[in-house]
Amino acid sequence: MNGEPDEDGGGRSPAPVLEARGLCKSFGSVRALIDVNLDLYPGEVLGLMGDNGAGKSTTVKILAGALQPDAGEIRINGRPVSLRGPIDARRAGIETVYQDLAVVPMLDVAENVFLGREVRRRGPLGVLRALDKRTMRRQAAEHLRALNVGIHSVRQRVDTLSGGQRQGVAVGRAVAFGRHIVIMDEPTAALGVRESRRVIELIQLIRRRGLSVILISHNLPQVLEISDRIMVLRNGRRVGVVRTAETDMQQVVRLITGAEVLDQPAAQGSEGWAGGEA
Ligand SMILES: Nc1ncnc2c1ncn2[C@@H]1O[C@H](COP(=O)(O)OP(=O)(O)OP(=O)(O)O)[C@@H](O)[C@H]1O
Ligand SMILES: [Mg+2]
Repeated sequence: MNGEPDEDGGGRSPAPVLEARGLCKSFGSVRALIDVNLDLYPGEVLGLMGDNGAGKSTTVKILAGALQPDAGEIRINGRPVSLRGPIDARRAGIETVYQDLAVVPMLDVAENVFLGREVRRRGPLGVLRALDKRTMRRQAAEHLRALNVGIHSVRQRVDTLSGGQRQGVAVGRAVAFGRHIVIMDEPTAALGVRESRRVIELIQLIRRRGLSVILISHNLPQVLEISDRIMVLRNGRRVGVVRTAETDMQQVVRLITGAEVLDQPAAQGSEGWAGGEA
């Protein structure tokens, strides 16, 4: 290590796979994010918690390239990145399951799984031709079967699936294609007990593969069960990051409600990069 203070409990790990510094985002007069820092280490599950409107989805959308921050920087594996759109984020190895708009209802399951990364047949002279639907269907079915997502046919249109099955397709896609980071915004909010379990198992599987997960959830027992660290936002500010093994339900509730604040705004602003630069 470079001798820097162990700023938010992640210092024992190797360099972070993702670092965000000073993220700010306003919507008109609403300050959705104020100078937010976030570190994500390899192979960890970071729970992101906070009350409604705290800024969780805004953070996720910025990391997924769906929103541009007003200020702030993002580094992946130490390199500054500019995520101008969702495709940039995917290229950087970040897959996202959004709270809303997880899938495209009018497309079938296989088309949703391969959305934005369609497989095309090679024509004469090696020119890429028509969509290779057979290959996409076969691979989509294999992915979803391997992940135990209960879908009868990958040719079924997504608007005919149940809410839980849709979520299964969105999570399955993220797990299948995420290379570094999978972000899930309330992946179990609409799910039954069994389907929620399945998502938890998928998160454990992703972690075993060495990927990192940011999990947004209002389900505190679930976050305490599965996360390595928990970061709490309140009114657009980061109020604390704790190791899950060293905290409990009461402390996380105090952070969420504002009864306890661990991060000092002045100290936050002076956090450096893991690389030790100024
Ligand atoms: N597109 C937008 N236009 C205007 N205001 C927005 C927009 N997106 C978010 N906001 C505002 O920014 C703040 C943060 O919203 P965000 O969706 O990030 O909250 P959240 O923590 O995900 O909440 P929840 O738990 O309810 O999903 C809220 O006050 C919200 O109303
Ligand atoms: Mg949200």
